[in-house]
Amino acid sequence: MASPREMLRSPQSVPSAIRSVPAALYEDNLYAKVRHAVPAIEWPVYAQDIDAIMTLKRTRNAVILAHNYQTPEIFHCVADIVGDSLALAREAMNVDADVIVLAGVHFMAETAKLLNPEKTVLIPDTGAGCSLAESITPEDVRLLRRSYPGVPVVTYVNTSAAVKAESDVCCTSGNAKEVIESLGVDRVIMLPDEYLARNVAAQTHVKVIAWTGHCEVHELFNAADVRQLREDYPGVVVLAHPECPPEVVAEADFSGSTAAMQAYVGRNRPPRVVLLTECSMSDNVAVQHPELEFIRPCNLCPHMKKITLRNIRSALEGMRHEVTIDPLVAERARRAVERMLAVR
Ligand code: 13P
Ligand code: SF4
Repeated sequence: MASPREMLRSPQSVPSAIRSVPAALYEDNLYAKVRHAVPAIEWPVYAQDIDAIMTLKRTRNAVILAHNYQTPEIFHCVADIVGDSLALAREAMNVDADVIVLAGVHFMAETAKLLNPEKTVLIPDTGAGCSLAESITPEDVRLLRRSYPGVPVVTYVNTSAAVKAESDVCCTSGNAKEVIESLGVDRVIMLPDEYLARNVAAQTHVKVIAWTGHCEVHELFNAADVRQLREDYPGVVVLAHPECPPEVVAEADFSGSTAAMQAYVGRNRPPRVVLLTECSMSDNVAVQHPELEFIRPCNLCPHMKKITLRNIRSALEGMRHEVTIDPLVAERARRAVERMLAVR
């Protein structure tokens, strides 16, 4: 008897219980693409939403931007543009559509809105926040400026528009060193991620004054985990996101943004690899490299996981939840993001 996966790829042999998968999705052979990451039993439900989303994207003239931490059925099946925070910010500027749905967290949707003030930007769940964005307020930034007069403020994009508005320039984990060094100063304030700041400080002569924010996903990794992984999985290549504590980055073979980790895997094809970051990242990279062994002691981001196919579909059906930013805040925040994009 054919396996459920084989049946899903061949509509004639699909039993009635799962015959509801739209025919167009067989033609696209979409399931074949994600079959290692999406259980066959879940596919018929996803397929209905994927089909509806494809139609809604056309009728609304919408595009979906998805972060690397989105689940494979979103990342590989409905997203038009995927990437790390830097790529999404860049691509948001080139979007030729009336509506942008941001499959990611709220600060990413705000960044897309800052760069596309005339477009409608939707976030499928307004509760998709970020522990880093929560860790600092505009008032904190003003206080820091008073404590370090004249020292420029470099702000990670994982912050609210209101915090960006108090900043000189933004950065992501993919360009932080270049942004800091572009300022031509010997000292910067870098907000709000303490670990990213310390990891970048280790690579530059510029002195970095850090805040105390942490990513609730990456702070869970520690150096003992890395040593244990090497013992349990001989030869494993360890990649760590720079939001991990510095002792984890020091034990890793490579550290970089989610896009940099993906590029590393594509370039080096390590037969056995672990990505110390959010869980869906490994799922998405593994879809592109089924021949590699991915070890997965990953951590889930509860905010990223608030986005689902079902609420992306609802967002497009009901044109909700629209992201709005006070125009005075937006103007100043946009300047900080644009300065970053001018560097890299
Ligand atoms: P990057 O995709 O820019 O590496 O960021 C990771 C992250 O945690 C985004 O929330
Ligand atoms: Fe924020 Fe960390 Fe989740 Fe990224 S993974 S959205 S930094 S909490």
